Amino acid sequence: MKLRLGIFDSGIGGFTVLKSIQERHSSFRSIYLADTQRVPFGTKQPSEIRQIALEISKWLCRQNINAVVVACNTTNSVALDVVKNNVEVPVFDLIGSTSELIHESRIGILATPSTVASKAYSKEILSSKPFSFVLEEGCPEFVPMIERGQINSSEVRGAIVNHLEPLIKENVEAIVLGCSHFPLLKPIFKELMPSNIRLIDPSLNLAKKLDTLITPSVNEVDLARKPIDIHFCVTSDPSQFSDKASHWLGIRPEVEVISLRSHS
Ligand code: SIN
Repeated sequence: MKLRLGIFDSGIGGFTVLKSIQERHSSFRSIYLADTQRVPFGTKQPSEIRQIALEISKWLCRQNINAVVVACNTTNSVALDVVKNNVEVPVFDLIGSTSELIHESRIGILATPSTVASKAYSKEILSSKPFSFVLEEGCPEFVPMIERGQINSSEVRGAIVNHLEPLIKENVEAIVLGCSHFPLLKPIFKELMPSNIRLIDPSLNLAKKLDTLITPSVNEVDLARKPIDIHFCVTSDPSQFSDKASHWLGIRPEVEVISLRSHS
C-alpha cells in the first residue's frame, strides 16, 4: 500500500509542516492544498473558517488519501471537529499534543487572532499542566507579510519586537509558534528574542504522530528514500505559488488550480 497524505493550509505556512513530515517520513506521498484565494484564515470569523474547513474536507474526501494533516492552526483551533466529521481517514493536527513538547512552566503562544480567541493552546497545555502560566498573543500581520515575501523587512522586525514584548515582560521560558507560517520567520525570532527562551514548533510532534500510519500493510519498498512526491493544488494564481515553493522548498512544482466551492 502506498501512503498518501492530504495536507492543507491557507497558503505557504503548511510548507513548514511538510518539511517536518518529510524529514521523518521521506517516503510519504502527499497532496498539498493551499486555499490561496482566501488566505489569511486567521482574521476571519469562526463561522467562515468552519465553512472553509467543510469545503476543504469534502474536496479531500475525493483525493484518495490515507490521512489528513491539518497544517493550519487556525482551522485546527476553530474547526477541527468539522474536518474530523467530514473525512473518513485519520486526522492529524498541530495543537492536540503540543503539551508533550513542553517542559517549561511559563509559556507564550504566538498565533493568529482567531487561534488566540479560541484559547485552544491554553486549553491543551493547561489540561495536562494545570499549574502552568500561558499567555497568548495574537499576531494579525505576520501571515500577510510572509505570503507577500516580506521576511526580513524593518516592518516584520518591528512587528516581531512588539509581539515579543508582552511575553518577555511576563518572563516566559518557551514560545510556541502557533501558526504554521511563523516558523518561516524563525531565524528573525531567534535573533530578536533572548537566547534563554526556547522556540517550539508543533509540527515536529505532528510528524512523529504519523509514525502510527506505518503498519505491516505498508510495502517496505515504499519506505525507502525516494524523490519528493507531492501534488500541489491552489485556489488561485498557480505561478505565484510555484515561485513561493521554489523559494521555500527548493522545487518548482506544477501547481493545479482547483475549485473548492463546487465540492461543497
Ligand atoms: C492563516 O491562514 O491566517 C493562518 C494559518 C495558521 O493559523 O496556521
